[in-house]
Amino acid sequence: VPGYLRSAQGRALLCGAALGELLTQAGVSTPAYFYDLDGIGHETAELVQALGARSHLVAYAVKANSAGSIVRRIARHGAGADVVSGGELEVALGAGIEPRRIVMSGVAKSDTEIDRAIQAGLRAIQLESVEEIERVAARARAVGSRARVSLRVNPGIEIDAHAHVATGHDEAKFGIARGDVAEAWRAIDRAGNALEAVGVSTHVGSMLKTPEPYLESARVLCEVARARRAAGARLEFVDFGGGFGIDYGAGPARPPADFARAALELLDREGLGELDLVLEPGRALVGAYGVLVARVVGSKVSGARRWAMIDAGMNDLVRPALYGARHRIEPLDAPPAEPLWQVVGPVCESADDFGEHALGAPLPSHVAIRDAGAYGFSMASEYNGRALPAEVFCADGGVKSASPSPGASAWVKRRLDA
Ligand SMILES: Cc1ncc(COP(=O)(O)O)c(C=O)c1O
Repeated sequence: VPGYLRSAQGRALLCGAALGELLTQAGVSTPAYFYDLDGIGHETAELVQALGARSHLVAYAVKANSAGSIVRRIARHGAGADVVSGGELEVALGAGIEPRRIVMSGVAKSDTEIDRAIQAGLRAIQLESVEEIERVAARARAVGSRARVSLRVNPGIEIDAHAHVATGHDEAKFGIARGDVAEAWRAIDRAGNALEAVGVSTHVGSMLKTPEPYLESARVLCEVARARRAAGARLEFVDFGGGFGIDYGAGPARPPADFARAALELLDREGLGELDLVLEPGRALVGAYGVLVARVVGSKVSGARRWAMIDAGMNDLVRPALYGARHRIEPLDAPPAEPLWQVVGPVCESADDFGEHALGAPLPSHVAIRDAGAYGFSMASEYNGRALPAEVFCADGGVKSASPSPGASAWVKRRLDA
């Protein structure tokens, strides 16, 4: 529905003339991310509801988008957080999420991060190697506290995804290999009072469009949980990870609630129905509810090739350069139309290329890069001396707040001072 900020059934779309109006309302310069907080809230509520009223937990993967307005909105709808750094942990706590609703993952946590996580009393620090077990135990003794931990198990499963978003195969740096799980439990038991093993977790990778590969990895985790309980140990939760895909234009993905219902059924079937279930979605809660608006700064026509140069680059949205990802790009104020243009950014890298898109002729003044709510701003950099982009938070069909770009001068000063 061009020209209209659509929030029908919460499946919001930021598009068309409404986006142009929002751009004027926000008073920010491009490139600028626009987010639909109502869409994000609705998506979260739907998933939280599918998990039911028990102490199951949707732990939003903050890495997907760490903006306070977004984390607070997600928390308001009943989700907790999955964090992978001290910085993300402070954002989650600062957004009002209770420590017991936060899990912390990461293969190279620093002592400072571990200490903070222990002292805050998180639901669990997810242990990613046998070696890390003794490290966390030592930190727990050093701070005079007991660390709540879970084993992050690498399920040894290949998924059909770009190598950079597949995490659950045997050669990945993430998690404890199945063959090392017995040794991991022994290390946990040796740590005595320093550690309390409360859960097991896994994360097989991202961009899953159907629940099957997710459930395959979840079954491996259930086996690990059952074996631990059979040995007489107590567990509070299993955490099947995130990875629910979204539609970037190549076809729909099953909604997160379908994954949640299938996960609950599996837990029951596996005889673990009294354990709490934790899910760690990132992309699925925010991806479709963000748009990157860019200005067309120029064009080049050479033979049969047409290039459209925009003021957003791979430093603002790196997914195409990093993963070969394709985002739909459309004129801001008109429907897509022939001819096709090769859309490129200002960064001095051949990889700064968003692919071919139907932008019409003459070129529009602005374009919208769709489905940029996840792993967009959170992966942005200042490469080439470019300022971080602006962010605009929309709700009730209008602008709620805006974070303007810090501009390039802060970068210039830091580099001159270096
Ligand atoms: C441990 C962990 N949990 C959750 C996520 C979120 O994944 P997604 O955004 O695909 O749901 C990731 C993504 O990298 C992850 O590494």
